[in-house]
Amino acid sequence: MAKPVQIEVWNPNGKYRVVSTKPMPGTRWINLLIQQDCRVEICTQNKTILSVEDIIALIGDKCDGVIGQLTEDWGDALFSALSKAGGKAFSNMAVGYNNVDVNAANRYGVAVGNTPGVLTETTAELAATLSVAAARRIVEADAFMRGGLYEGWLPHLFVGNLLKRQTVGVIGAGRIGSAYARMMVEGFKMNLIYYDLYQATRLEKFVTAYGQFLKANGEQPVTWKRASSMDEVLREADVISLHPVLDKTTYHLVNKERLAVMKKEAILVNCSRGPVIDEVALVEHLKANPMFRVGLDVFEDEPYMKPGLADMKNAIVVPHIASASKWTREGMATLAALNVLVYHLYKK
Ligand SMILES: NC(=O)c1ccc[n+]([C@@H]2O[C@H](COP(=O)([O-])OP(=O)(O)OC[C@H]3O[C@@H](n4cnc5c(N)ncnc54)[C@H](O)[C@@H]3O)[C@@H](O)[C@H]2O)c1
Repeated sequence: MAKPVQIEVWNPNGKYRVVSTKPMPGTRWINLLIQQDCRVEICTQNKTILSVEDIIALIGDKCDGVIGQLTEDWGDALFSALSKAGGKAFSNMAVGYNNVDVNAANRYGVAVGNTPGVLTETTAELAATLSVAAARRIVEADAFMRGGLYEGWLPHLFVGNLLKRQTVGVIGAGRIGSAYARMMVEGFKMNLIYYDLYQATRLEKFVTAYGQFLKANGEQPVTWKRASSMDEVLREADVISLHPVLDKTTYHLVNKERLAVMKKEAILVNCSRGPVIDEVALVEHLKANPMFRVGLDVFEDEPYMKPGLADMKNAIVVPHIASASKWTREGMATLAALNVLVYHLYKK
């Protein structure tokens, strides 16, 4: 049995017991639960990732719903424990749910929620940030400056890539991929090539209309193309951003062979999930191609990086912060609370 976990309790006399495995930003989510007669228990244990055992201890004997995190393994053991405690609802505080075994949830009659939409623009903005930072070698230049190495302007100092009129490639043009594409097309007048299993009609219409707008203003219009294969995107694009879901079809989608297809000076950005890229192959590719650059928010073995990655100057690495704006994180917490309320309280 796991050691008792530290918790903070709100509305101790509430009828329904809802547990959040982590403190979440804002208080709106807590107030929403309290308004519906919930006792809210928030795990404040000073441990970044809770184990299955920790969460079973948190669920206890009676628990109506849980809000959990993408770092947790929501499989048979947890859904069984939640169901035994009378729980009917679980919400991930994330749009991706690759950490959740939905079949197991179904077996135990637990409804599962996620938090799409509120994180679209914030996540796309980080992908855009990483694209520009990689193109202009911002992190390397910052380290150089702080290291006291700057002795004066030089024609070759930190020369990077111009984005304007280049081609941006998007793999997975869903909510976030489309928002990112719009930012790069509108912001840098990039032409778009995308690959998705489905046609991104609204995105295509946007780029067409924006191209017409530019033309009407005497500028060269931007163009779009839906690629028939992912390799077509990899071959043609100067900046490629990955935004698919992580599932069996997208595991190691970018591998050694596919990296070899990309331009030598291409930029690859990943704000989806780490295992979409074969990170060992990526490190080898970065070593062999110093002009190839990556911006990574997610990693194959999070929180760890594959050996060698941290030494690569042509890699920018940030700790899974793509959805980390105040507005979005509060929105995710609110949606997660509503998921638990809707499924548990109103569907009884
Ligand atoms: N880094 C972060 O903090 C962060 C934040 C938010 C979302 N994400 C990740 O981004 C993903 C996308 O989120 P979204 O809201 O845009 O989801 P979405 O469902 O709107 O978009 C996903 C797109 O991927 C496409 N797709 C699926 N399989 C594919 C394949 N094999 N090849 C090409 N395309 C494929 C789908 O058709 C869909 O259009 C999430 O699942 C999550 O894992 C990460």
